[in-house]
Amino acid sequence: MEVVICSDGDEVGAVAADRVIAQLAGKHTPVLGLATGSSPLNLYAELERRSAAGDVDFAHALGFALDEYVGLDPQHPLSYRQTIDRTVVKPLGMNPERVRVPNGFAADLEAAADEFEEAIREAGGIDVQILGIGSNGHIGFNEPTSSFTSRTRIKTLTQQTRKDNARFFSDDETVPTHCVSQGLGTIMDAHNLLMVASGEKKADAVAAMIEGPVSAMCPASILQFHRRAFIIIDEAAAAKLTYADYFRHVAANQPG
Ligand code: GLP
Repeated sequence: MEVVICSDGDEVGAVAADRVIAQLAGKHTPVLGLATGSSPLNLYAELERRSAAGDVDFAHALGFALDEYVGLDPQHPLSYRQTIDRTVVKPLGMNPERVRVPNGFAADLEAAADEFEEAIREAGGIDVQILGIGSNGHIGFNEPTSSFTSRTRIKTLTQQTRKDNARFFSDDETVPTHCVSQGLGTIMDAHNLLMVASGEKKADAVAAMIEGPVSAMCPASILQFHRRAFIIIDEAAAAKLTYADYFRHVAANQPG
């Protein structure tokens, strides 16, 4: 695991964008794994700037989102399909037809999840999977106790996650109870993982992910088993790390 501690969210976005661009360099058809949530917004904004400056081109890129609510029409403004289109696809100039979001509105959810997995395989796997982390340590919508070998499937959301996400829903709408999420096994197959996190609300989950035991109680802790997991966090999210000084030392003393 490589951990970089940044002064604030803007720096998190800039460092993460550098990494994404470096990892996609030379690829005609880069395959991006896309996360929703507030955490990667700085990264997407920075990628938009860099693409406008000509540093990177996403026109041929393929995209796969991590997750989707069950029961929301893909046209619903709070569906992750719409969220991904609004916050990533359009700003980065990606082709919406080349970006897949798990289908939470299919008649046969399991078959749709299997097709999603197949599409990732056909694309040759995900080059860079962008991740945020939930306050309970979830990645995608893999809630605590998710299997480490899980593939894209239907999950039941915890009350904590529904509470965390309630801010997006108005009074007369309730947060969906179920979702379709890439599994932890799916995420671990990505060639590179790039996690971004900011703010004190994430400090416990970040410490458990990086320094805690690998446990299904903190699904993100499985990143300890990935060979190319890059974690970019701000000072507030790093506040509970015992090894924060070590990570700063490593970043300041890169070999070569
Ligand atoms: C959501 C998403 C995750 C996201 C996480 C954190 O429920 N399913 O993919 O990483 O929760 O969201 P935020 O970045 O807004 O804190």
